[in-house]
Amino acid sequence: MKVVVTGANGFVGLHTVRGLLDAGYNVLAIDITDSELKARFKGDKRCEITTTNILDENLKKIIKKEDKVLHLAAIARFDQAKRNPQRAVKVNIEGTLNIIKACIEKKAERLVYSSTGSVYSHDAPIPIREDAKRESDSIYGLTKKQAEEWIFLYGENLPYIILRYGYIYGKDKDWGAVGAFLKRLKQGKRPLIFGGKQTNDFIYIKDIVQANLLALETEHTRQAYNIGSGRATSIKDVCELCIDAMGSNLTMEIKPARAFDFPVFVYDISKAQTLLNFEPKWNLSKGIKDILK
Ligand SMILES: NC(=O)c1ccc[n+]([C@@H]2O[C@H](COP(=O)([O-])OP(=O)(O)OC[C@H]3O[C@@H](n4cnc5c(N)ncnc54)[C@H](O)[C@@H]3O)[C@@H](O)[C@H]2O)c1
Repeated sequence: MKVVVTGANGFVGLHTVRGLLDAGYNVLAIDITDSELKARFKGDKRCEITTTNILDENLKKIIKKEDKVLHLAAIARFDQAKRNPQRAVKVNIEGTLNIIKACIEKKAERLVYSSTGSVYSHDAPIPIREDAKRESDSIYGLTKKQAEEWIFLYGENLPYIILRYGYIYGKDKDWGAVGAFLKRLKQGKRPLIFGGKQTNDFIYIKDIVQANLLALETEHTRQAYNIGSGRATSIKDVCELCIDAMGSNLTMEIKPARAFDFPVFVYDISKAQTLLNFEPKWNLSKGIKDILK
């Protein structure tokens, strides 16, 4: 069984390729850059690496009948999408459309799409369910939501699973909450937080890999799933956990809150628990310690 992974050289991609190989899959890893893929997987015959842009027409030659496609490639950061909205539209929307069309033409077995909580409206009832209003006020969220719409539109011809990841943290991600806190602490600098009271649904990368693998096998296709811990944790508490785990005596530096952060964000994950058999295994404290190991 072959899984085509786009964006395989990225944070989620590298962890997922490892998880797929460990679970016995063959992988075709696609990315515009391949340095980390080569460093980690070159020589493993079960992992083919190809340097390809998802906007390339050639994609149709790469995807084969009955392949399972896990589409992770994206302009995946708010600041990058804001700096270059045209690029975000091209990669996140047109790139996804290119993948959808290639999957349909080549009769791929399914498409698993990595979406985000940023597609939801800031006034979505808490905990957020999959049927909550989707109305993004960020460029990144807007492009990810539009990619979802294209998948829904073509969904009759292509079994799909949309995974709306929560706030992912883990090894190799040295930015954002957790990643940036640990990086600054390691440098002997005080971690910076913006606001601090706002909560998010933090999910460890190993749980995300588990969700990706489940989505590749589930019978419950043509569905969107929230993939998180189902717990709300404030940024301040996350920062405290990082300080504790590092055994540091530094204190956090608090800056004003940013408009694009949800004041409270937490998922209802019961749909993923029931239909996907998804069960998060890592809480924040365990996850942070695992990163530091
Ligand atoms: N990291 C998170 O917290 C998070 C949360 C929710 C959703 N997601 C989604 O998960 C997916 C993976 O995120 P990530 O954190 O690994 O991002 P990342 O930026 O680390 O990885 C994205 C990868 O896509 C590749 N890429 C970009 N444009 C490409 C193109 N035109 N053709 C081929 N490859 C291209 C990049 O080179 C990069 O390796 C994204 O779709 C993102 O929107 C991530």
